Amino acid sequence: MAAMVPSGLPPAACGTPLISLLLVCCLLLPGAPGQQFQLRAEVQSPVVPAGGSFLVNCSSDCPNPELITLETSLSKEPVGNGLGWAAFQLSNATTDSQVLCSGFCNRVQMIGSSNIIVYRFPERVELLPLPRWQPVGENFTLRCQVAGGAPRTSLTVVLLRGEEELSRKPAFGEPAEITATVLAGRDDHLANFSCRMELDLRPQGLELFQNSSAPRQLRTFALPVTTPHLVVPRFLEVGTNWSVNCTLDGLFPASEVQVQLALGNQTLNPTVESHGDTTTATATASVEQEGAQEIVCNMTLGSDSWETRENLTIYSFQGPILNLSEPSAPEGTAVTVTCLAGGARVQVALEGVPAAAPGQPAQFQLNATERDDRRIFFCNATLEVDGEILHRNSSVQLRVLYGPKIDQAKCPQRLMWKDKTIHVLQCQARGNPDPQLHCFQEGSGKEVPIGIPFLVRLKHNGTYSCEAASSRGRHTINVVMNVRDRNARAVNIVLGVFVVLGVVTISAALLYVFDMHKRSGVYRVNQGSTSLPLTSKQPEEAVGEDKSPAR
Ligand SMILES: *[C@@H]1O[C@H](CO)[C@@H](O)[C@H](O)[C@H]1NC(C)=O
Ligand SMILES: *[C@@H]1O[C@H](CO)[C@@H](O)[C@H](O)[C@H]1NC(C)=O
Ligand SMILES: *[C@@H]1O[C@H](CO)[C@@H](O)[C@H](O)[C@H]1NC(C)=O
Ligand SMILES: *[C@@H]1O[C@H](CO)[C@@H](O)[C@H](O)[C@H]1NC(C)=O
Ligand SMILES: *[C@@H]1O[C@H](CO)[C@@H](O)[C@H](O)[C@H]1NC(C)=O
Ligand SMILES: *[C@@H]1O[C@H](CO)[C@@H](O)[C@H](O)[C@H]1NC(C)=O
Ligand SMILES: *[C@@H]1O[C@H](CO)[C@@H](O)[C@H](O)[C@H]1NC(C)=O
Ligand SMILES: *[C@@H]1O[C@H](CO)[C@@H](O)[C@H](O)[C@H]1NC(C)=O
Ligand SMILES: *[C@@H]1O[C@H](CO)[C@@H](O)[C@H](O)[C@H]1NC(C)=O
Ligand SMILES: *[C@@H]1O[C@H](CO)[C@@H](O)[C@H](O)[C@H]1NC(C)=O
Ligand SMILES: *[C@@H]1O[C@H](CO)[C@@H](O)[C@H](O)[C@H]1NC(C)=O
Ligand SMILES: *[C@@H]1O[C@H](CO)[C@@H](O)[C@H](O)[C@H]1NC(C)=O
Repeated sequence: MAAMVPSGLPPAACGTPLISLLLVCCLLLPGAPGQQFQLRAEVQSPVVPAGGSFLVNCSSDCPNPELITLETSLSKEPVGNGLGWAAFQLSNATTDSQVLCSGFCNRVQMIGSSNIIVYRFPERVELLPLPRWQPVGENFTLRCQVAGGAPRTSLTVVLLRGEEELSRKPAFGEPAEITATVLAGRDDHLANFSCRMELDLRPQGLELFQNSSAPRQLRTFALPVTTPHLVVPRFLEVGTNWSVNCTLDGLFPASEVQVQLALGNQTLNPTVESHGDTTTATATASVEQEGAQEIVCNMTLGSDSWETRENLTIYSFQGPILNLSEPSAPEGTAVTVTCLAGGARVQVALEGVPAAAPGQPAQFQLNATERDDRRIFFCNATLEVDGEILHRNSSVQLRVLYGPKIDQAKCPQRLMWKDKTIHVLQCQARGNPDPQLHCFQEGSGKEVPIGIPFLVRLKHNGTYSCEAASSRGRHTINVVMNVRDRNARAVNIVLGVFVVLGVVTISAALLYVFDMHKRSGVYRVNQGSTSLPLTSKQPEEAVGEDKSPAR
């Protein structure tokens, strides 16, 4: 029945298969001059939701109308009639249709029609899947499909990025597909794209109905022009912790880069950081096995990966270990110095003399002498790793036990000092362990300070016994300290002067007396005159001063 009333046909169109309508058609075509009264098909609302029901009132001004009916493909139910009218409830409107009222007025047929527009929301509004990863700077297509929905003339599809409208087009086709080309940028990374249908029934006195598709998130990326930059040392010692640094520039979005760092078959657990378009992965590694190793840094974004490999050599280089057979050797004993290589390929040299072969120890022997005390022995070790020579040194100090000995040259054994003068008693002893040195006066047993100034007194006159002592024994020498009294010497000088003066005076007196006798012929010794010269004796000090330059 639905096909019998195609939508959009003009109310008076011929071709309606109903016989009655054909008759009407043929009757009307000549001009229908007999019709004076109209039959109206009044619809409550000409726009109805799909599946909805509505009321149609067929009414006429004819004073005595007859047989008012409603012609429709929809199921109808009379809901009432009165003079000049009949009302019907139509239900389940699924497509646009036409309702036709017919009746008779004075045996003349009257008809009236009305169009029903059915509106329906689309069953599906969908944004088709976006590329999983979209390169920055390349175009991609947004596709939105809208299935169903009526009337199509009122249906528009809008493509959106977030809330921003990218494109707006009328729905066309079934399902309607609307596309838009978008140039992907970094801003589009993680942006939500969607589409929205708009069924605008405002001209029909209804609202604007909208419904949106589920959003789809886009991921955009930019590719680097280089491979990752891997920073690792060329050589590494077994067991040491070191850091690996892998950096890649120009990869967007850096925050989504997955990094794999592996050393040989050992997977490292890197810390990944990103700043702008730079990704840096840092890990700490340690290897327990000697030999060549390969380190791989692999950065992955989407389905692309970038990789850098580096070789590194793991070596073992312990020592050199320097040993003394006796770290503290008594003087005269034989000491063996040994330098051990810390690995089969390590070449050692002890005091510049290389060992016979790599891995062999270097050794030498010496007679411990006093001169060897505190002597430092050096051992150098070299290891060739991948064409490069690595050096390592070790040293050890020998202690020789000797002494105690007092240095005769540094310890004067005869001293001539004046009373009340300040002097230092110099004396030194050597030995390991350090000896204790003391000087005691023979007889009194009094100690005299060594190496520090002291006031020399007459009581210091005498012989001293100086003794150096350590756990290894003792060594003694004698020191004679001659202390002279400076006053005693001055008295001697004064006495000497008196004697000389006396002799001179007596001689002068004798000459005078002899001369008088010669002249008088009498020789007499004048006893009293001898006391004269004694009165002219000089002060002691002056004599002492005159003589002092002679000393
Ligand atoms: C149908 O129209 C007539 C005349 O306009 C009116 O008197 C009558 O009440 C209407 N019937 C309904 C059910 O609206
Ligand atoms: C409405 O019409 C459709 C087809 O036009 C039909 O399948 C459905 O059963 C009808 N519903 C009612 C309630 O009459
Ligand atoms: C992207 O598309 C626009 C028009 O849709 C075109 O002018 C432009 O050349 C395209 N760009 C690329 C990189 O393909
Ligand atoms: C896109 O949608 C997701 C989830 O609906 C939301 O978490 C995210 O913030 C949105 N992105 C933008 C750029 O608005
Ligand atoms: C929009 O779509 C959802 C489900 O697709 C539906 O539940 C909702 O009623 C629709 N809204 C409108 C206004 O059509
Ligand atoms: C890693 O390398 C980068 C650049 O080469 C440098 O800036 C950074 O400090 C390095 N980090 C470490 C832990 O070595
Ligand atoms: C790694 O490789 C070494 C030999 O190169 C092997 O002995 C070891 O078992 C491997 N380890 C793992 C976890 O595969
Ligand atoms: C890098 O890692 C990715 C992800 O694990 C992997 O698919 C790819 O094969 C790796 N590349 C190489 C060269 O090993
Ligand atoms: C690492 O060593 C292997 C074999 O020794 C060699 O083929 C490869 O080129 C080396 N790689 C680098 C980066 O030197
Ligand atoms: C051994 O090492 C010492 C200290 O570094 C250095 O002075 C000396 O020249 C080295 N000797 C040799 C033979 O390398
Ligand atoms: C070490 O000294 C002892 C005795 O003093 C002597 O017999 C020996 O030959 C010396 N050895 C060396 C290596 O000089
Ligand atoms: C000082 O001592 C020496 C012997 O040690 C002795 O001959 C001399 O008379 C002494 N001199 C004095 C002033 O006591």
